[in-house]
Amino acid sequence: MTRQDDMLRTAKEVQLGNYAPAPFVLTHGHGRRVTDAAGREYLDLSGGISVLSVGHSHPTLAAAIAEQAGRLMHVSNVFYNDRAIELAEAICARTPFDRVYFCNSGSEANESLLKLARRYHHDRGETKRTGFVSTFNSFHGRTMGSLSLTGQPKYHKGMAPLIEGVRFIDFNDLSALDRAVTDEIAAVIFEPIQAEGGIIVATAEFVEGARRICDERGALLLFDEIQTGYGRTGAFLAQEHYGIAPDACSLAKGIGGGFPLGAMAVTERFAGGLPPGSHASTFGGNPLACAAGLAVLRIIDEEGLIENARAQGEYLAARLAEIDARLSTTAGVRGLGLLQGLVLADEIDPGATIAALHAAGLLLTLAGGDVIRISPALNVTRDELDEGLSILERVVAEAPTKP
Ligand SMILES: Cc1ncc(COP(=O)(O)O)c(C=O)c1O
Repeated sequence: MTRQDDMLRTAKEVQLGNYAPAPFVLTHGHGRRVTDAAGREYLDLSGGISVLSVGHSHPTLAAAIAEQAGRLMHVSNVFYNDRAIELAEAICARTPFDRVYFCNSGSEANESLLKLARRYHHDRGETKRTGFVSTFNSFHGRTMGSLSLTGQPKYHKGMAPLIEGVRFIDFNDLSALDRAVTDEIAAVIFEPIQAEGGIIVATAEFVEGARRICDERGALLLFDEIQTGYGRTGAFLAQEHYGIAPDACSLAKGIGGGFPLGAMAVTERFAGGLPPGSHASTFGGNPLACAAGLAVLRIIDEEGLIENARAQGEYLAARLAEIDARLSTTAGVRGLGLLQGLVLADEIDPGATIAALHAAGLLLTLAGGDVIRISPALNVTRDELDEGLSILERVVAEAPTKP
């Protein structure tokens, strides 16, 4: 038995069975490449599901984490720390938001949005305004609040009762949104691109209409930019493509480049929504995570990664469209920047196709059940995209059909 087989056997014995990982154990990563315990190298165009904004083990990020670890890791939220102040200032400088709250994950960032919206209205005497409008097919996380906003029944199975007052509408259905936003709605939340739901881009009409309806009816407009933010779509935040700013937005994934970090960014008008003592996180805003966040921003700037995401994203979308036109096993391409999805034809087995891609040395993930998601690090090169796309085309051309 090889060392990798041994580790896989142990994993099955000691790790909870809530995931179904691919049958290899990754031990090293550099740039857009990872290596498993058997020494096999893979090209990673999954970007750790939109997390690895600067690739694996970027030396500047690794050095910033090591330097901060040797200086100050944690102080608790009873004290200010320099790194959290610097990172909040840097995020405010790049976005329409005025204040930032740090946490550790995307789900937590969305919990914060929920609490901000409810408490804001409560403190203004609008105690009936406790509901939320979310969208079918959305993904906002797995904690009870964020799960309650997630519009995919499969994730709700066996988890009831969820939080009350969440209404779901079809994504991009403005008239449904218009009907749903009553005087009992605290906030409307959606992703500018439904990512886990299968890479579905919001229409300008929906985004603009949502802003107008929320303004007219006194509900907050909240964006979940956990997967779309931090340069992934070729803009710092995806909302820039629409020229619309929500009242608050959640960030996570790419913000720490692989280090656990989440954030809620809020405009001044709603920033008082969470007064002292109303919300907190033990690790949120710790100097180590914030030093990682600062290093990610520095690398994004120094290496021009938003421009790279835009340019490589356009190239990727064009090449995927060509592949889609050549193959009968695919059914379209959707996305923005470096968040692209290749839709598999109905008869194709998505799980077996992903497994075949992994076996061919290319790491990608599924979104929405039947969409191959390509979300590489923002510093991916054209050569790496070409290499990955040629594996992708070869494997998907021969993709196994459903049993
Ligand atoms: C749009 C979106 N929101 C929220 C989450 C949840 O983030 P986390 O897994 O860090 O809690 C995810 C994770 O995939 C996501 O894609």
